[in-house]
This record gives sequence, C-alpha cells and structure tokens, in this order.
Amino acid sequence: MSNLATKLVGWIDERFPLVSTWKGHLSEYYAPKNFNFWYFFGGLALLILVIQILSGIFLTMSYKPDAVFAFASVEYIMRDVQWGWLLRYAHSTGASMFFIVIYLHMFRGLMYGSYRKPRELLWIIGMIIYLALMAEAFMGYLLPWGQMSFWGAQVIVNLFASVPFVGPDLAILIRGDFVVSDATLNRFFALHVVAIPLVLVGIIAAHLIALHEVGSNNPDGVEIKKHKDANGKPLDGIPFFPYLVIKDAVAAVAFLIVFCAVIFFAPEIGGYFLEANNFIPANPMKTPEHIAPVWYFTPYYAILRAVPPMFGSPLPGVIAMGIATVIFFLLPWLDRGKVKSIRYRGPIYKTFLAAFVVSFIGLGYLGLMPATPTYTTISRVLSVVYFAFFLLMPWYTKIDKCKPEPDRVTSK
Ligand code: HEM
Repeated sequence: MSNLATKLVGWIDERFPLVSTWKGHLSEYYAPKNFNFWYFFGGLALLILVIQILSGIFLTMSYKPDAVFAFASVEYIMRDVQWGWLLRYAHSTGASMFFIVIYLHMFRGLMYGSYRKPRELLWIIGMIIYLALMAEAFMGYLLPWGQMSFWGAQVIVNLFASVPFVGPDLAILIRGDFVVSDATLNRFFALHVVAIPLVLVGIIAAHLIALHEVGSNNPDGVEIKKHKDANGKPLDGIPFFPYLVIKDAVAAVAFLIVFCAVIFFAPEIGGYFLEANNFIPANPMKTPEHIAPVWYFTPYYAILRAVPPMFGSPLPGVIAMGIATVIFFLLPWLDRGKVKSIRYRGPIYKTFLAAFVVSFIGLGYLGLMPATPTYTTISRVLSVVYFAFFLLMPWYTKIDKCKPEPDRVTSK
C-alpha cells in the first residue's frame, strides 16, 4: 500500500474496526479447503440479493402503486423507459433464480448435515430468511396488477380466512379491504419495497455473523476447528480472502452467463418465470380458468390441494401446507445420525433423501397442473412421502448403518 493509503487506513482504524473486521471475516477467516460445487450457492444468493435491490430501486422510480395505473406503468417500463425492459426482466428472472439458488443451498444443508450442532441457529436464521423471501415474492407478485397477480392474491389471502375465530378479520387486515383492491396493492407495495427488504438484509447479516461464529461445515461433515496448527489456524482451512473469493467469483461469472441468457432469450421461460395470464390487466369480474402460483410455491400448493376440506373449509389443507413449510425448522432435532455428511451415511438416509427430492419436485409439477382426480391421488402419495422424510427421521437416521467418518477432511 502507498504511504497515503496506509495513513488513511490507520486514521480510519483508530476510529472504526476496519482492519480487524477485514481480517476476522475475510483474510484470516479460515474456511474448509474441500468446498465443492454445493458451496457456491450462499455467495450466489448474496449476488442475487444485490441484483434484486438495485433493479428494484430503479423499477420503483417508474412504477405506480395504484390499481388504476399499476398495470400500465409496468407496460410503460417495458416499452418507454430506457433499459426498462432489462430492469423488469432482471427483477422477474432474479426472483425465480433466487428460489432456485436457495433451494439448492438448502438441499446442500440436507446432504451434508449443515443444520446439525453447532449450526442449529444458523439453520433457524436461514429458515426465517426463507419465510421472509416467500412473503417478499408473494407481495411483489401483486404489483404488476395482472390477472394472476390479482387472483393469486385473492386465493392465498382467502386461505387465511379459514383460520378459526380470527380468520375473517385477519384476511381483512391483510387486504385492507373486503376484497383485493387498491388498498391491498398499496400495503403490499410498502411491505415489498421497504419493510421486508429491511428485515431480509438484517437477518442475512445475522446469518453471516452466525456462520462466522461457528465456521462452515464441509462435504465431509467434519469440524476443521478440531485440528489447529501452533498458531491456532485450522490445518484444513484456507483464508476466505483471496482463495474462496476468487473461487466464488468464477461461480458468479457462470451464474451471470445463465442469468443473462434467460433475460435476453427466454425471460418468460414458457410461462414459468412470467405467466401469460399476467400480461392481461387484473379484472375482478373475470376469474381465470386455471389459477396456479409461480413454480417456487407449487410444492406447497399441491399439498394444500391434496388434503380434503373439512365441512367445506380448506383449513386441513392450510394446516398441512403451513406445517410442510415450517417443519424444516425442526431438522436439527429430528436427525439422530452418527455422521453429518451423506458421504458417510448409510443406504436408508440416502433412500429417504432421494424420495424427498422426488416428492418435492413431483409436488412442484403437480401444483402447476389442474387438480384432476389422478393428479390429486398422486399428490396425496407424494405428500405422505414428503412428511415421512421428516417424521420418520429420528428413527431411520438412528438405525442407518453409517461408514466411519474421517478425522480430517478428504480432498475429493
Ligand atoms: C438470501 C438468502 C441467503 C443468503 C444470502 C445466504 C448466504 C449464505 C452464505 C454466503 C453462506 C456461506 C457459503 C455457503 O455455505 O454457501 C451460507 C451458509 C449456510 N446457509 Fe445460507 N443464505 C441464505 C439462505 C439460507 C436458507 C434459506 C437456509 C436454510 C434454511 C440457509 C442455511 C445455511 C447453512 C446451514 C449454511 C452453512 C452451510 C455449511 O457450512 O455447510 N441459508 N449462507
């Protein structure tokens, strides 16, 4: 560093913990040296967060949160605002990409037992992020005020009305009206643009602080802190800066190539990222023939539809859907396996995990389809598989024959 730069850093450091923060979280933060492909997704989620916030700020400059103007303002962004189409497609593609990346990030946790001691709180914070992200996506989806925005919100908010005693009032509180209306659009806008992003940024910071407190897990599921050199540095660790920053940068470039390809060549992806019905302005007098949420909610939507109503109320399905979402919180306490990583787990865990993945993807597909009797039957079977993965976990992880875990990380 030049003399001036050293002086400047020294000046700041006397007033702010700059160098110690840099060292503690980057240049002297030791992460396992055996990170693989699955360890890219946390960093990518951070990248998408930045893309969403930046594109969102610029979209807000031309968007109008008003039931009369909202749809037209989005069309204005797409056609007249300079680079408006890019901003909008970046934001809509970013939403789907966020969920793809987060699902892979969570799946990595399942494979390598990253939710287990001492990372339970890190996992719980991750789950709170996941729920906040779902709320963020749901509210953002109302803003273009298209047919799917309107009717999707109508269906989901009505589900809250099935909660005993407080349900109807709760639904009115969410909508700000007796039907989805301008008042709903305004409060969803406030929550989507200000409240939830603030919460998200805060809990993501907490997620990273918790991660750096306990240190990363790795594909072997062994703790690198157990073996340190004479200076107290983990023998199987490497400094996050520059080594893993460079590694993550390669993943970021690969991700951006895919991201741009979607934006430039197929931003709607056959209706999966942007649905055809949402290019029609919201019409409270005309229900679309087929209402389905965006793909990232469909596994839960399929579970909702798979459970039969009771006395005409969808409550049992709503409860099942709610439990299916929050049951991940319990994973650290459901898993009794002797080892963390799938590399050393026995065949039973592997089978259950594979069945869970099939059920999640299958339910995701079925949630997009009309609820025909055959599809409903398959949804029921897959819902049972989904819940079996969690509810039987204390049993099958205990009896599973695990391989011996190595003492140090392997460099596969
Ligand atoms: C915006 C959302 C999120 C961001 C930006 C984020 C960021 C990160 C980053 C940067 C890492 C370290 C790099 C890596 O291990 O990939 C990480 C690790 C981790 N995250 Fe997240 N995360 C998010 C959501 C979640 C969610 C939804 C969960 C689970 C419910 C979760 C659970 C974990 C766990 C368990 C680890 C440690 C994994 C290990 O060391 O094996 N995260 N996260």
